[in-house]
Amino acid sequence: MKIVVLTGAGISAESGLGTFRDKGGVWTQHDFADVATPEGFARDPVKVHEFYNARRANAAKAEPNAAHFALARLQARFAGDVVLVTQNVDGLHEAAGAQVIHMHGALDRATCAACAARWAAPLVMNAEDPCPFCAATATRPDIVWFGEMPKALRQITAHLSAAELFVAIGTSGQVYPAAGFVEIAKTSGARTVEMNVEATGNGLFDHVELGVATQTVPVWVDRLFDRLA
Ligand code: APR
Repeated sequence: MKIVVLTGAGISAESGLGTFRDKGGVWTQHDFADVATPEGFARDPVKVHEFYNARRANAAKAEPNAAHFALARLQARFAGDVVLVTQNVDGLHEAAGAQVIHMHGALDRATCAACAARWAAPLVMNAEDPCPFCAATATRPDIVWFGEMPKALRQITAHLSAAELFVAIGTSGQVYPAAGFVEIAKTSGARTVEMNVEATGNGLFDHVELGVATQTVPVWVDRLFDRLA
């Protein structure tokens, strides 16, 4: 059975990483226009680097939780049939042993706004750091900002079109194109499931599993093992 899983900030919430739109979330403390848009970076690259340096330091201290490990177990058991796509930029899925498609980029990756080279980001990035490839002082986090094209969309869309089961975990479904994945999957005949602490109210989900991810995801994976064993 071809399964596509989409995760959002909610799956990393119990690892201590903030979500974006919950009470006290990242976007209640920072204006995304200042720190998560190309215009904000052009205006004040120092501010943008400070924002991501703080999130990179936070993410470096975080540990994967039971939900991350359960998805890695599922992927290992049904190798090739479980595609994991995340909107998150932390490395917790990989730390749990999973293969993951980072559609919004990753905190541990850097890129050059001048030559588009990519490399492993240092823990602290500075606006005046020269690009290691073209020496331009245009280094930036390799993170997809609002108004930019998410990564691997063609690949993700192909997986969604072949999915028999689509599961969205810990995402508010507010940001496209990720918010539209459920429709692609459903149109392609997949069963669609949402796992969240509160239902987003998107009627395209056939089933909503309410609860924290560290409870609902391991239970769901164990049930799948029993069913598909
Ligand atoms: N378990 C499960 N779900 C949770 C938990 C938890 N412990 N804690 C919070 N949630 C849910 C919230 O109910 C909410 O629906 O996680 C969701 C988090 O939503 P957002 O903060 O909007 O995060 P996300 O959906 O990942 O945002 C998508 O928006 O700002 C951009 O690029 C950013 O990738 C991000 C994108």
